[in-house]
Amino acid sequence: MTGLEISNSSDISNLFESISQIDKGSGLDTVINQYPQIKRNFLFLNLQEYYRQIENNHLLLQDFISKETPDHTRKILSICLTLLFFSKKPEFAVVHEAVEFSKIFKKDKLVNAVLRSLLRTKKKIDRSSQNLPKLFKANIDKVFSSKNIRAYIYNSLFHKPINYQISYNENKNSIYGGKVSLLEKDLHQDCFVQDIGNFECIYAIKDLFQSKNILDVCAAPGGKSILLSSYGFIVDAIDKSSSQIKKFKDNVNRLNLDLEIVQRDFLTSTFPKKYESILLDAPCSALGTFRRNPDVASKIDEKKLLSNQKIQVAMIEKSLKLLDKGGILSYIVCSFHPFETMSVIDKILQKHQDVSLLNIQSDKMIKKEKGYFINPYAFKELGGSDIFFMSVLQKK
Ligand SMILES: C[S@@+](CC[C@H](N)C(=O)[O-])C[C@H]1O[C@@H](n2cnc3c(N)ncnc32)[C@H](O)[C@@H]1O
Repeated sequence: MTGLEISNSSDISNLFESISQIDKGSGLDTVINQYPQIKRNFLFLNLQEYYRQIENNHLLLQDFISKETPDHTRKILSICLTLLFFSKKPEFAVVHEAVEFSKIFKKDKLVNAVLRSLLRTKKKIDRSSQNLPKLFKANIDKVFSSKNIRAYIYNSLFHKPINYQISYNENKNSIYGGKVSLLEKDLHQDCFVQDIGNFECIYAIKDLFQSKNILDVCAAPGGKSILLSSYGFIVDAIDKSSSQIKKFKDNVNRLNLDLEIVQRDFLTSTFPKKYESILLDAPCSALGTFRRNPDVASKIDEKKLLSNQKIQVAMIEKSLKLLDKGGILSYIVCSFHPFETMSVIDKILQKHQDVSLLNIQSDKMIKKEKGYFINPYAFKELGGSDIFFMSVLQKK
């Protein structure tokens, strides 16, 4: 679609187009950024809600359509449920736009009939159920053995997370060593945005690094590099993505920091020196960020996870080559899927006898044999957190 077509198109058609792109693999943010600023907030909130309710809507629609109803029609109806129950868009406008849009697929009569009968029973429909995408639930259950923690995580898919900002300098009104405070309307001048669980990852391991000179190999948009720098680390930051590096540089300039940022591909570059400390915040499915990006919960693709795993293992191996004897490598992913977490470390430990695992002291993490998971339940007073996995490796 051209910019003009996007501006003139209906909400239903914009949502349908966005969902088609997200289901093919694009990220929610990337898709929304194609739209004019004025449309972004509406699309963002309704897309988040569409994916949060994907399983509930699927079950609800079973009473109104048959197994043969094509995917595109289900999608249109599910978008309508989102708009009818979540947005302030008037019912007549939702029905009108949906019927007009479904003419493309010659399904306007069906869509009209289903929406009319849904609206007749709307008041009686119970929207409190919390059905989860099957693979999402199965993988939460594999990792978290406590019933309370699991229930807390299931529930958190259905709620908007609380946003925090991290201050570069210590501040007596903030929590967590004077660095974490609520992000209300505006970002404070010396602050950057980071999930509280993400903050805990660095907070918990900063003292395990023996040298304050650190290589951050997947550094953009810079959350962890900036946090490390605030703890006195001298960071060599690299990343292969020019768009992410641009965001990183904007952050660094806003905070008035002096940080070395270079665009390069870690896997294909050569490095003139070795390091005693390396941070590898590896690319992954981002499954642990499901509260902000609920689409990830319904898009678990084991083939893609295995291909991520190959890259993650290759990145650890390259990091180990660059590490001095006795040096520390911290592997982090914002995922809880076993393929991207415990299996990755298992593969490394089986192949590299000169590598050992270090303990992390944190009451906000759950210890497993191959590393630690951030425990969102430990942040319940603060509104929960994203889920991260981390392992700290030492080269003997
Ligand atoms: C999880 S994000 C890093 C987030 C960052 N550490 C932070 O705290 O803001 C993963 C990053 O890895 C980068 N990346 C992926 N493959 C890479 C490679 N081969 N070399 C360098 N960076 C890579 C991506 O561009 C992305 O920015």
